[in-house]
Amino acid sequence: MARRRMIYEGKAKILYEGPEPDTLIQYFKDDATAFNAQKHAVIEGKGVLNNRLSEHFMSGLNAIGVPTHFIRRLNMREQLVRMVEIIPLEVVVRNFAAGSMAKRLGIDEGTALPRPIIEFYLKDDALGDPLVTEEHVIAFGWASQQDVDDMVALALRVNDFVSGVMYGVGIRLVDFKIEIGRVFEGDFQRLIVADEISPDSCRLWDIETNQKLDKDVFRHDIGSLTDAYTEVATRLGVMPRNG
Ligand code: C5P
Repeated sequence: MARRRMIYEGKAKILYEGPEPDTLIQYFKDDATAFNAQKHAVIEGKGVLNNRLSEHFMSGLNAIGVPTHFIRRLNMREQLVRMVEIIPLEVVVRNFAAGSMAKRLGIDEGTALPRPIIEFYLKDDALGDPLVTEEHVIAFGWASQQDVDDMVALALRVNDFVSGVMYGVGIRLVDFKIEIGRVFEGDFQRLIVADEISPDSCRLWDIETNQKLDKDVFRHDIGSLTDAYTEVATRLGVMPRNG
């Protein structure tokens, strides 16, 4: 069998050419990175967990009418996704202060925010993904005003859905990052959620204990990342506890 053509290799995923036009295969690696890849480890099984978890969120979003690139899971580590033109921004939504925002603004971790706060970060490893404003986004042409409005609307819908799903299993969605891509349908362009939604890109705290169940476990060496992600997957019913 001919080897598949690799389109792109990122820190935690690889994209291969898909079997049909305008599709890609998204492969989830076991690599974990933090602090702009200064910290790196291979955590056996992480890719399998994130493939399942991202499938769970993305297929749920599709089902309620929030468009995503997810088509179907192919196997333990791969999913078929729509090809998109990625907007070079990381869109972060925060419900509670944590991470870089808590530090930047001197707000105690865990403080409830008055409303969800959306931030844009420029996807640029060499610059360390700097925070940018809507003014920058539009002035430098990374996205149009209409795109910004659409990204905000999309991000808030993802926030409501994922917050609700997580609340149902006793987990608080503190914040998360999504990536958004353009698809072209006739003369129209539409923005859809791309990349992944998993504990790699969310902060998830147990509602009762505030135990961290996300990549902060790896970032700050506070336990087993596999145990944390397995806990999330088990509560959501997407993985058997020892499976
Ligand atoms: O580090 P910071 O507090 O800005 O991260 C906000 C949210 O975005 C966290 O859930 C984090 O996991 C996610 N994030 C990400 N990829 C990045 C930066 C942040 O998934 N490159």
